Amino acid sequence: MLRFLTSGESHGKALVAILEGMVAGLRFDNKKIDLELGRRRQGPGRGGRMKIETDKVEILSGVKGNVTLGSPIALLIKNKDYKIEKLPQVSCPRPGHADLPGSIKYGFKDARCVLERASARETAARTAVGAVCKLFLEQFKIKIKSSVICIGGEFDQPSINKKIKEAKQKRDTLGGMFIVRVYGLPVGMGTYVHYDRRLDGRIAGAVMSIPAIKSVEFGLGLAYAISFGSDVHDAIFYSKKKGYYRNTNNAGGLEGGVTNGEPLIVRACMKPISTIGNPLPSVNLSTKRPSKATIERYDTCAVQAAGVVAEAVIAFELANAFIEKFGGDSLKETRDNYLCYLKKSS
Ligand SMILES: Cc1cc2nc3c(=O)[nH]c(=O)nc-3n(C[C@H](O)[C@H](O)[C@H](O)COP(=O)(O)O)c2cc1C
Repeated sequence: MLRFLTSGESHGKALVAILEGMVAGLRFDNKKIDLELGRRRQGPGRGGRMKIETDKVEILSGVKGNVTLGSPIALLIKNKDYKIEKLPQVSCPRPGHADLPGSIKYGFKDARCVLERASARETAARTAVGAVCKLFLEQFKIKIKSSVICIGGEFDQPSINKKIKEAKQKRDTLGGMFIVRVYGLPVGMGTYVHYDRRLDGRIAGAVMSIPAIKSVEFGLGLAYAISFGSDVHDAIFYSKKKGYYRNTNNAGGLEGGVTNGEPLIVRACMKPISTIGNPLPSVNLSTKRPSKATIERYDTCAVQAAGVVAEAVIAFELANAFIEKFGGDSLKETRDNYLCYLKKSS
């Protein structure tokens, strides 16, 4: 079983992740992890913080001579913007952020104590973990890519740029939708035998856990609700050359929570960023008097970055399901098991 933990505050010293259960013998490539961290910082509408952070990963353990040992892998990403002790109090919670429920839950009068961890800065650690999982999946020719579908209701790049410019001028924010596609998955990852082992549920949970993601769908998704079954289910064919195959992929690569050999197609919607330059009404946590919500430095839009984070969390779920299915403590053992399965199931 693959599992991980992250630690770290947005303006703390560093983010740390520990990934446990990765096979031994995987060639490690720090540059590829840094590349993914770099992709997470990009996209239209990102704020000033992304210019400060350069995000380079440091490997603290679990790797020797650039090869994994099978022991826990500790990853460190230092925060250039380390100033948590010097930052002002946040007294007026931002609607849409974790500020108010978090402050009530943990008994804080300063929402800074909430937002430092609730902030999406934590997703840099998850991106690093996902990048390691991508290195593993690449060994089996499994490739993951995301792209933006729309931002603020606009679909083409010039209109998106215009909309983001408008949002910036109005000191407002935007959300949107992105898609993640995964190619090269074998049939049989995940299982229908128990609810918490269904891969659709595991992937949906992982993507939904990214801050500001408010819907996740597979394949045809919402459009299933307005269709006849005969129009949307992917008919099954067989040829000696191809084996079983489909001419459509409305299921998005999963049936019964099990991969069916078609590309995995996941779409998600991100709400507009909750910190708004022209702030909404709020209430002071100490005085209970009405006040405008606090403004923290913010992204106008982060849909492209959220897509990169989604790639990472999906990579983790897929690597976990792959190791679960094929087992093995070393890359060689996993590969042997995988090749044997492919031979038997073809
Ligand atoms: C890549 C990324 C960047 C984000 N940047 C910001 C930001 O600059 N300001 C902000 O208020 N929220 C930002 N968010 C969203 C908040 O973290 C999120 O809305 C908040 O944690 C509350 O969680 P919820 O929206 O899931 O309820 C970002 C989210 C992601 C995925």
